[in-house]
Parts: sequence; C-alpha cells; structure tokens
Amino acid sequence: MTLRRKVIAGNWKMNKTAADGVALTKDIVAEIGREATVDIVLCPPFTALESVGRALEGQSIKLGAQNMHPEKSGAYTGETSAEMLRSLFVTHVILGHSERRTYFAETDAFINKKVVAALANQLKPILCVGETLAEREAGSTLAVVQRHTEGGLAGVTAEQITSVIIAYEPVWAIGTGKVATTAQAQEVHAFIRDLLTKLYGAPLAQKVRILYGGSMKPANAAELLTQKDIDGGLIGGASLEARSFIDLVKAADAAS
Ligand code: 13P
Repeated sequence: MTLRRKVIAGNWKMNKTAADGVALTKDIVAEIGREATVDIVLCPPFTALESVGRALEGQSIKLGAQNMHPEKSGAYTGETSAEMLRSLFVTHVILGHSERRTYFAETDAFINKKVVAALANQLKPILCVGETLAEREAGSTLAVVQRHTEGGLAGVTAEQITSVIIAYEPVWAIGTGKVATTAQAQEVHAFIRDLLTKLYGAPLAQKVRILYGGSMKPANAAELLTQKDIDGGLIGGASLEARSFIDLVKAADAAS
C-alpha cells in the first residue's frame, strides 16, 4: 500500500488518426469507464485531441498532449500553447520525452520553460528523464537522470511539485523490447525520490508519482509496478491496442 495513486498513461506518439483514436478510446472506455481505481491518461497526437476528448466526456480517464510550447502565443509556426490545450480539456502534457530531446534537440532549459508554463496554466506535466545506452555504459545514468530532473524542475515550487509526474524512461528500453530489470528501474526511481526529498522535503517527495517507461507490457508490468518507488507506467507500443492497455491498467490496479 502506498499513498500514491498509480498512473497508467498511454503515449500514442505519431500514431492514430482522429477516427482510429476515437475507436481505441471507445474500446478502452467500454471496459474501464468510470470504474478506474488508477489514474489513466490518454495522450493522442494533437490532431486527435479534440475528438478523443469528446469520446472521454463524462469519464474519469484524462486527456494528455505529447508536447507544448512555453510561450502564450505568437510567431511559433507549428507549435501549440498551454491555453490551446486547455481549451480542448487537456489536463496533462508529456514534456522532455527522449524522442524530442534526440530528434528536436530539446534542452533541459527549454523543457524547464515548458514545465513552468504548463504548471502556470494548470496542466500537469509528465516530465520524462532517462539515459541513453552509451550513457548507461559509461556509468553516468544517475548523473544524467539528476541533470534531467533538476534541470526540468528549476523554479517549480513546493506548492506545484505534487502536480508534476516524472517518467523515468531509459532510452535504450524505448520501443526496443529491452525492458530495464526491476532492480535497475527501482534503483533509478529511488534515486529520483531522494533528489525530490532533497529539493522539496520528504512529505512532498513521497506524494510525487514516478512512472516507468520503456517496453512496458502486461507480461512485465506486475513485477515493475510492485516496486516501492514505481507508481505507474508511461506506455508507448502497448497503449496502441485496447487489450494490452486495459491489461496494464488492471495490473496497476492489482498492484495498488
Ligand atoms: P514503448 O512502450 O513503445 O517502449 O515506449 C515507451 C515510451 O517512450 C513512452 O513514452
């Protein structure tokens, strides 16, 4: 038992048209609906946010975006503001995903601006942190995770920190089928909680949810989700299909 409610978040990445997204959402809602005992967040691409949001009306399942620009408005072609997301009833936003760090050169400083802007607009950031294979092999996993966590959270106040969800996603485990061992994952999660304790004190650090992400699926979820500091999952591939996503929610429920 823990005081932290588990979270299962589906990061659909660049998959699903609006119509496909609604079909998947309806299948998930049909089985889970209002009954959920864990926090569930669906993060479709921007083009499906509105229609998936409509399919979630009256349900407890939450809507998340996959990115956001820190500025309020202006000449930022192709970007989306916090206010725009809020107007679609988005409540969560994934920030600093490794794919954005790698393919779009996002830095900790830029990600931090987004985290601060999201919180100022009542959006809950899902801040992603995690090392590459080269960094793990060089023995710098904890240093990288510390830089991502502290960099991403700069200026986040004690009042705000419990609205932040952190996702530890070892880059080498994303989409590769190579899941971190439970011991590897728990070690980093405990390290992140220690960092949060130093920054915000134990009572608040104990309330922050830290998710694992990287090839999580029903077959490996139970073991990961029963670790002391693993409070849920940020799911890529297995969130694209109703059956596996529902089974992950059930695994989180059983581990609660
Ligand atoms: P996979 O579950 O496909 O490995 O993706 C994890 C991820 O990047 C979630 O954000």
